[in-house]
Amino acid sequence: MKTDKKNIAVFVSGDGSNLQAIIDSKIESAKIAVVVCNNPEAYAIKRARNNNIEVELINHRDYSSREEFEQEIINRLSDYSIDLIVLAGFMRVLTSYFVSRYRLKIINLHPALLPSFPGIHAAKQALDYGVKYTGCTVHFIDEGVDTGPIILQSVVEVRDNDTEDSLMHRIHNIEHKIYPEAIRLFCEGRLRIVGRHVFVD
Ligand code: GRF
Repeated sequence: MKTDKKNIAVFVSGDGSNLQAIIDSKIESAKIAVVVCNNPEAYAIKRARNNNIEVELINHRDYSSREEFEQEIINRLSDYSIDLIVLAGFMRVLTSYFVSRYRLKIINLHPALLPSFPGIHAAKQALDYGVKYTGCTVHFIDEGVDTGPIILQSVVEVRDNDTEDSLMHRIHNIEHKIYPEAIRLFCEGRLRIVGRHVFVD
């Protein structure tokens, strides 16, 4: 089925390997209209520019409050008619001010099987806890930290000799598959949200 392309904004702060995976997936129903970055040193900026994608660099350090920073993002996004915001390693927590503006239009990727191991260093948390399986989760953003309705998850086995780096490496590999897939489903209008439940039609 042919669908109109949805405009997506990808928010990044660091390496941007997931941004790269989204670019490389060439999702037919999605156009990366803009990359928003809060960190002038982020390698993700280079990835965007190499692919002729607009970059809005908005350094949170230049703003005296989270709301001011977020208002600037909202202002800049208004030029792009954004249908979906994709957080891909964006290291700022968004306040309810921003979240309510784009309700159920912001998705995030987390390197664990939520609700286990929310927050930072999720792979280390999983190793320290001694779980046998971890993975990654794509979910909608709500006002909590890593608490919104879950869209897709994928499992990674934890090996006895894993380090945080080796485990994170395998998690990254599956992230690069499920994030583009979740974006495709959203952009094709195939996600149906009923309370906390997300059904794929
Ligand atoms: C990913 O592991 C994702 O789960 C987390 O941030 C990391 C971003 O990696 N939210 P990259 O910048 O896409 O390489």
